[in-house]
Amino acid sequence: MAYETIKAEPRGRVGLITLNRPKAMNALSQLMMREICQAAADFDGDAKIGAIVLTGSEKAFAAGADVKEMEKLGYSEAYLADLWRGWDRLTEVRKPLIAAVSGYALGGGCEVAAMCDIVIAAENAKFGQPEITLGILPGMGGTQRLARSIGKAKTMDLVLTGRLMDAAEAESCGLVSRVVPTADLLEDALKIGEKIADFSLPAVMSAKESVLQAFETPLDAGLKYERRLFHATFATDDQSEGMAAFVQKRSPQFKNR
Ligand code: HXC
Repeated sequence: MAYETIKAEPRGRVGLITLNRPKAMNALSQLMMREICQAAADFDGDAKIGAIVLTGSEKAFAAGADVKEMEKLGYSEAYLADLWRGWDRLTEVRKPLIAAVSGYALGGGCEVAAMCDIVIAAENAKFGQPEITLGILPGMGGTQRLARSIGKAKTMDLVLTGRLMDAAEAESCGLVSRVVPTADLLEDALKIGEKIADFSLPAVMSAKESVLQAFETPLDAGLKYERRLFHATFATDDQSEGMAAFVQKRSPQFKNR
């Protein structure tokens, strides 16, 4: 499918989505949001794909929602259009989403990274929620998803001051799981995607679903949910194969991947 603001291509068993508005620092326009969500949904439904990597350019993952597109909006237009609600589609993707972040991930860019399941940062990455400097507040999870993943103190600091944090700080507060040399970012993210895509897809998807449940339910309900999904894996050929391969000291040949 041809897109205007992104590129989408399979790289082996990994679906690669590259944000592609270099002149605007990959600012997220409404069109770009729709295209990212469509490409991710297509990869999600593609049996040949086991994981999805979302990346930008070396200079910018995404410098936020497109301010030029929003500048003239009034309340009624924003409210009636339920501005930016469309990102819900990205959070409905069931296969693992890996954000490979180089350069700026600001505002909506930081929020999109936080919607992903794994965030890998290049050493030059800078994260922040600078909306306060524009007279607004984050609107796609910066006060909610971020507070749940990096805690109140760090979220308040970022959201109320608009300051940027570097990759090391983002890793130490748990937004980022690995920091890699800038030149290796894409290759490393694709390798992680390939590794995940080699496992049993039902196990991978259940594991993602179960971790996300931790953000929705109290602990005892989440533990029960996890245990039921765990039990369900015993109905799959891949559980039999995975455990037999371990006992027989060989590599598993998962059917569902
Ligand atoms: C529109 C943007 C943009 C943005 C950069 N550009 N960010 N256009 N929306 N978010 C454009 C600039 O206007 C400029 O266009 C070109 O990209 C290059 O940017 P420069 O500022 O010249 O580059 P540099 O000096 O290197 O600074 C990079 C930067 C800075 C630090 C990333 O651009 C910046 O602060 N951008 C805005 C960050 C921001 O406030 N993001 C939050 C947006 S609100 P021209 O035409 O001049 O070359 C948001 C809300 C989300 O995300 C929630 C929605 C509900």
